[in-house]
Amino acid sequence: MLLTALRFSHQLLKDVVSKGDHVIDATMGNGNDTLFLAELVGSTGHVYAFDIQEQALQNTREKLAAYTERSTLFLAGHETIEEKIAVDQPIKAAIFNLGYLPKSDKQIITLPETTKQAMSAILKRLTVGGRMIVVIYYGHEGGETEKNEVLQFCQNLPQEKFSVLNYQFINQKNNPPILFCVEKKND
Ligand SMILES: C[S@@+](CC[C@H](N)C(=O)[O-])C[C@H]1O[C@@H](n2cnc3c(N)ncnc32)[C@H](O)[C@@H]1O
Repeated sequence: MLLTALRFSHQLLKDVVSKGDHVIDATMGNGNDTLFLAELVGSTGHVYAFDIQEQALQNTREKLAAYTERSTLFLAGHETIEEKIAVDQPIKAAIFNLGYLPKSDKQIITLPETTKQAMSAILKRLTVGGRMIVVIYYGHEGGETEKNEVLQFCQNLPQEKFSVLNYQFINQKNNPPILFCVEKKND
């Protein structure tokens, strides 16, 4: 059976992330991706995770209790990646889940401008062969605009440096999430 966008995002991460790698979860939420990444990078790697909600940090902290040494959880927007992570720190992979935190305040959503700032900062640090994955939930107000801006950002990346994949189900109701995967080909 075809994988959902969420399952496919994990497959795409698993293909490239190895023990010792440094990776980013740009939208920590309940910490599901943060935990998945922490297991992939092992005790010698590191996960940097970002969210603007205290609740997200609390939930993730509990999930990552066994992995505190290999993770840094920032109560800060992903637009601060540029200042929080050194520009010469190689990043093997990053993931975004754009939208709002399920079962939480639906007004607190990711926004196109800050999302693009974060994507640019990540691409600067991405290693050759590394992947930035963006899963977009867009059924809420403002979601469609963000989806279109991310699409435009990804479409404009130079093909000499990046391969960009779009994965989506096109005959499903209720706006199932769509996925973009940007892989760095050259520096
Ligand atoms: C769809 S949820 C993420 C789900 C998460 N990956 C998980 O496994 O539960 C989106 C998250 O993005 C967060 N968010 C909104 N704006 C943000 C920003 N500027 N920087 C980082 N996170 C942000 C929200 O607080 C919310 O927790």
